[in-house]
Amino acid sequence: MLRFEVLTLFPGMFAPVLAHSMLKRGQDKGLLNVKVHNLRDFTTDRHKIVDDMPYGGGAGMVMKAEPILLAVEAVRSEAQSSGEDIRVLFPTPHGRPLTQDYVQQLAGESRRIVILCGHYEGVDERVRLALAPEEVSLGDYVLTGGELPALVLIDAAARLVPGVLGDPSSVLEESFSDSLLEYPQYTRPAEVGGVGVPEILLSGHHEAIRLWRRKQALRSTYLRRPDLLKDRTFTSEDRQLLDELMNEGLLTSSISRREEG
Ligand code: 6GU
Repeated sequence: MLRFEVLTLFPGMFAPVLAHSMLKRGQDKGLLNVKVHNLRDFTTDRHKIVDDMPYGGGAGMVMKAEPILLAVEAVRSEAQSSGEDIRVLFPTPHGRPLTQDYVQQLAGESRRIVILCGHYEGVDERVRLALAPEEVSLGDYVLTGGELPALVLIDAAARLVPGVLGDPSSVLEESFSDSLLEYPQYTRPAEVGGVGVPEILLSGHHEAIRLWRRKQALRSTYLRRPDLLKDRTFTSEDRQLLDELMNEGLLTSSISRREEG
């Protein structure tokens, strides 16, 4: 069972997301557990104050250290009473960019994964010093807080836990599991707005379909995310498919072809 302990000022943001689709299924099957803790419950003052003005002045408020440290210690102590340990994550744009390799590693974690949701105005630096959390970023843009990133981490990891998804082969075949983008998919009807379905997908020739899909995945990756192919060693099959694409002129995007024309 993959276990998360979320520490947040906005606990209400989690239940609606966790109540749907694969995250709901994972919990219903006992493969995923997410506990959400309100940081306000770990204040010790009458007014339950969780933030304060920054020393030195400046705009915005800073999240106080003590409620966070008390919450982490409460979660740690609860885990240890069942012979378990914790691992602390801190979503922040200052963190290491999240990758599928990192997510894969999270999915296999046996410790409880604590996710501390901060806000970009800041968290008292002594939280970092005391906890040395793993700081992870979703990319180079700024969100209002760590709640959506926490849900992203939970979603990305949960779907890799065996049994959470209906069909385990979808995890194996998908984008980034071998760092290629996905091939195009079609479903009924056979024609939409005058556009049909590639003949080969109707042929029933499984090996030919597999090769076509592989070729489309290579093409799509080359055109959209050439960086994913940069340090790759290709199998002889992939080389062959790339050669075919080259000869067919399909490694030129329609945009650059228009520019050439
Ligand atoms: Cl992890 N947190 C916040 N607040 N903003 C972000 C982010 C994380 N990743 C990208 N932007």
